[in-house]
Amino acid sequence: MVPNIIVFDGAVDDFDHVLKYAETAVFEDVTSPVDGRVYPDVHVLGEKERDAFTILATSRTGLPLRCNLAAIRKNHPVKTTTEGLIHADVGHGDFASVFYLYDSPPGYGDGTAFWRHLRDDVEFNPNTTHIPDELLPDLDNPQKWDMTGFVGARANRFLVYPTVRYHSRWPAQGWALGEKCRTVIVAFYDLVSNESAPSHTV
Ligand SMILES: [Fe+2]
Repeated sequence: MVPNIIVFDGAVDDFDHVLKYAETAVFEDVTSPVDGRVYPDVHVLGEKERDAFTILATSRTGLPLRCNLAAIRKNHPVKTTTEGLIHADVGHGDFASVFYLYDSPPGYGDGTAFWRHLRDDVEFNPNTTHIPDELLPDLDNPQKWDMTGFVGARANRFLVYPTVRYHSRWPAQGWALGEKCRTVIVAFYDLVSNESAPSHTV
């Protein structure tokens, strides 16, 4: 049984510290070694921060997770495209998280949507390595999908979901408003044995 969407509000006590870190970070365009796409305005976090996400995700979910990648990411109104909008985070381990740094602006309603492919009646990618070729033409077309869940952006909200679950930012032009864009910290995790999971508390 694959766990469902897990959401925690007030996820970290030192949220102001996290926000200040993100607001002073240096962003760059990064080419993903997994899918070869260029992701604009990314700040890849270091080992210390990955460890913090390991502890956060493990303590909040009860699952023995180890963070393998974490990055602050902005969705930019010029640079961000809708290519591969609906997707599964295949090639990134077993679970993913989105840590929202800002409330969605009033009346805007951006967040993360989860989807079921209408023709194939699937919510989960059938493998952990690649999205099947026959689905690729539908990734940018929400009309081919049914939205099965939505988590709104809220400051200090932590969302965890299996990487094989189809999802997207939403709305498609989900870069929010003004200078802050849509800014989140994304992280990916491997399931590890209980023996090697961290024993710290948050
Ligand atoms: Fe994703």
